[in-house]
Amino acid sequence: MPNPSPFSRSIGSERVDGMRESVIREMTREAHRHDAINLSQGIPDEDETPPQVKRAAKDAIDTSSQYTITWGLPELREAISERYADWKGVAYDPETAVTVTTGTSEAVVSTLLALCNPGDGVIYFEPTYESYIPAVQFAGGRLIPLDITDNLEIDPDELRDAAKDASILILNHPHNPTGNVFTPSELERIADVAAEEDLIVVTDEIYEHIVYTDDYVSPVEVGDLAERTVVCTGMSKTYSVTGWRVGFALAPEPLSAELRKVHDYTSICAPTPFQKAGVEALALPEEYYADLASSYERRRDMLYDGLRTVGLEPVKPDGAYYMLTRYPKDVDDTEFALQLIREAGVAVVPGSSFYTEGTADWVRFTFSRNEETIEEALYRLDENRFW
Ligand SMILES: Cc1ncc(COP(=O)(O)O)c(C=O)c1O
Repeated sequence: MPNPSPFSRSIGSERVDGMRESVIREMTREAHRHDAINLSQGIPDEDETPPQVKRAAKDAIDTSSQYTITWGLPELREAISERYADWKGVAYDPETAVTVTTGTSEAVVSTLLALCNPGDGVIYFEPTYESYIPAVQFAGGRLIPLDITDNLEIDPDELRDAAKDASILILNHPHNPTGNVFTPSELERIADVAAEEDLIVVTDEIYEHIVYTDDYVSPVEVGDLAERTVVCTGMSKTYSVTGWRVGFALAPEPLSAELRKVHDYTSICAPTPFQKAGVEALALPEEYYADLASSYERRRDMLYDGLRTVGLEPVKPDGAYYMLTRYPKDVDDTEFALQLIREAGVAVVPGSSFYTEGTADWVRFTFSRNEETIEEALYRLDENRFW
């Protein structure tokens, strides 16, 4: 039971009014309660982290446990600048255009707090990674969701109309929760609209190395998008270190200068030992990234085939490690997800948690777990089928 409030007035600020706890984390807790296999939150298994990167973090605790300068460890910013010049073909000056943040999450929130005025329209595509909604609300922005559920494609006319009333567009690419990778022509369309309506673009590219299609390009490789874009990304998914909290915000100097103001006064710096380990991580050979993608691709195929075999209807993703899955049962998504935990011992996330409002007719599975865990989950689904 929560403690009764000693205050005689409402104490939550308007900024957080109506916000609820993340459904994903709630499902994780529910999974623990029922000893279910957790295919809800995108958490990789511990042994996925490259051993030399873990070793670098352990060593760094002895030598580097104090604050770094607020924009991040200089060696790390240099490594980021070098690697992203190769990966995205954009020169981000380590002094003025690279900021190391406390996770990609902080990069997104700092960016919005710094660049979104109260009342500014912020476009994002739904279903959406759930953090963007509170992030826009923290900044006092106006939510402009554009629904892409049916065919996972951006409708250019709808985008153009919405942009007239917006100042920022958030683009998660590859896309969580659908695993969709937007095509180069869709990105060109975004570039055109952004230029016409003078939008700032905030990309969340945390799954940039977990891609299963040759059709993938980063938005900042398209047209003039790099000039007006803050790229938010980080170490969590690429190196399987979601608990280390190291993110990167890459943006031309005028945009970086603004977001750095918020970053400085909210987190001072990202954890120093893990920034040191980031230098080691960014020195990994290209082969590491190819292996990462092919290892997840194997798991994607395994989960996709398995879900079809047990009578569910997954949509095969081209990136990230999530699978939008429909089910042949006439119940809402939350009811289906709770039933899956209790009756089949497998935890997923209800689709509705990825929308600003309303229900959904699908759930999200993750295949961020190892093959044995996915196999066991599929076995449980098969044995305990109630749909
Ligand atoms: C799209 C997306 N962005 C950001 C995050 C969180 O990133 P970080 O751990 O770097 O804060 C996640 C985590 O699942 C995610 O899926």
